[in-house]
Amino acid sequence: MDALEAIQKRRSVREYTGEAIPRADLEKIVDAGRMAATGFNTQPWDFIVVTDQSMIAKLKIASRWMEKAAAIIAVVLDPSSRYWLEDGSAAVENMLIASTALGYGSCWLEGYTLPREEEFKLLLGVPAEKRLLTLVPVGVPVEWPTQEKKPLAEVLHWERY
Ligand SMILES: Cc1cc2nc3c(=O)[nH]c(=O)nc-3n(C[C@H](O)[C@H](O)[C@H](O)COP(=O)(O)O)c2cc1C
Repeated sequence: MDALEAIQKRRSVREYTGEAIPRADLEKIVDAGRMAATGFNTQPWDFIVVTDQSMIAKLKIASRWMEKAAAIIAVVLDPSSRYWLEDGSAAVENMLIASTALGYGSCWLEGYTLPREEEFKLLLGVPAEKRLLTLVPVGVPVEWPTQEKKPLAEVLHWERY
């Protein structure tokens, strides 16, 4: 699948079969995050890939359906870096697209992660001065959602708003 196809196909997947994913594919997904655009090329990120089922069970308090994810990628940022939030967001989107391209489902779980950020940081051994932007579950999808998007004509403006 090429990049444009993966971008078109990507949707938030919240139901997984529970099947494992090869480590090499998880590395490819994180590598896509690593290659994201980043202000001043600061690359203020670290990625923790959790595949251990007992840890996934602890993290699933963010959301029960995460239980059947093959892996959960925790995205850690250095908030002393000027564009940490934008950089982290670019990395997350790259990983969602890469997951799609490889045939896996994933979901940006920031809303569920942030209220429990400190708890998750402790569980994952994230240094106190770092931020945990989001958890990203990745897994084999039970089905592919088709969340509707605004039509291009509604959001595309040529030359002026
Ligand atoms: C910043 C951000 C935070 C999000 N937080 C959550 C979340 O906590 N839980 C969740 O199920 N989905 C979360 N999502 C996924 C959105 O709900 C989803 O992207 C949106 O509904 C559009 O659907 P789509 O991803 O299938 O295109 C988040 C997405 C973004 C960009």
